[in-house]
Amino acid sequence: MKTNSTPVFLVTGASGFVGSRICRHLAPRCTVVGTYSSHPCCLPGCSSIALDITDRRQVHEAIQEVRPTHIIHGAAISAPDTCENNPQAAWDINCTGTQNIIDAASAIGCRVVFISTDLVFDGRHGNYTENDPTNPINLYAKTKVEAEKLCLKNSLHSIVVRITLQYGLSKGFGASFCDVLIRKLSQGQEVSLFTDQIRTPTYVADTACGLEHAALHGSPGQIYHLAGPERISRYDFAAKLATIFNLPAHLLKPCCMDKTSQIAPRARDASLCGKQFTKRFHFSPRGIIDGLTSMTYENTATF
Ligand SMILES: NC(=O)c1ccc[n+]([C@@H]2O[C@H](COP(=O)([O-])OP(=O)(O)OC[C@H]3O[C@@H](n4cnc5c(N)ncnc54)[C@H](OP(=O)(O)O)[C@@H]3O)[C@@H](O)[C@H]2O)c1
Repeated sequence: MKTNSTPVFLVTGASGFVGSRICRHLAPRCTVVGTYSSHPCCLPGCSSIALDITDRRQVHEAIQEVRPTHIIHGAAISAPDTCENNPQAAWDINCTGTQNIIDAASAIGCRVVFISTDLVFDGRHGNYTENDPTNPINLYAKTKVEAEKLCLKNSLHSIVVRITLQYGLSKGFGASFCDVLIRKLSQGQEVSLFTDQIRTPTYVADTACGLEHAALHGSPGQIYHLAGPERISRYDFAAKLATIFNLPAHLLKPCCMDKTSQIAPRARDASLCGKQFTKRFHFSPRGIIDGLTSMTYENTATF
């Protein structure tokens, strides 16, 4: 039951893949307002508002109106190639937009959890901890590192949570690489996947849960790594998905990063070590087989 002391969450980027999951996760226990920019969204148990985070006045007005106790800030240009092709928009949305959110949140003493990325690291060694130095190798990652600094400058209220490659079904909210994999394999199409890019994939439902822990119980000024327990390539991940979803694994074609033309350079091993998060919040995302199995139920559930 929601009462006067129920937390009020503002989730930016609620029309996206991760933001929509956060809203669905929080809705049963919290008051949730999700924001969208160009894709109006309707999420069960939540209200939604249009918000362009680059418009400082709009952001202040929205936050004054909603008066959230917590903000989970996920709105961003999240695709590295799109950032590379639209550098001004990438800086404006990922950095100026973040500054606008932080300033408006500070004015009402509201906590902000900023969603950052494993790609802040250069990927030379992997298994990165919160103490490792960042070294971004593409524009997307540079904007995220800058936005992290803006958040931590305001350490009275802000927390940074770096998340990793997200898997799950998008259900029409943003894009998930699993949607593409399942569709192509179901249609008998071959899919090329990197064998030499390592991440720590996380089931998006667990990310939503972890972000709630960080928002409610995290320490302002801290960086946390929220990551799945397995370091794995996209190719090996896809092989597991094919097995669990009973799809033809022979259509998966191994390839290497330097044999494909991507606009933004990608880190080779951006795997994160999530031990500190687990210790701090007594929570760890499930393993890949468990996550994929849960996805099969999602596939048929009304969600
Ligand atoms: N997905 C991953 O694997 C992954 C991995 C690491 C980190 N992350 C981080 O997690 C966050 C969410 O990622 P995602 O995959 O869910 O991204 P996404 O699906 O691309 O969603 C991006 C969201 O940002 C909103 N947005 C874009 N421009 C905006 C603006 N000017 N003002 C307000 N909102 C704006 C979009 O709204 P409209 O669609 O309505 O325009 C959308 O809701 C991002 O910060 C991303 O960097 C994601």
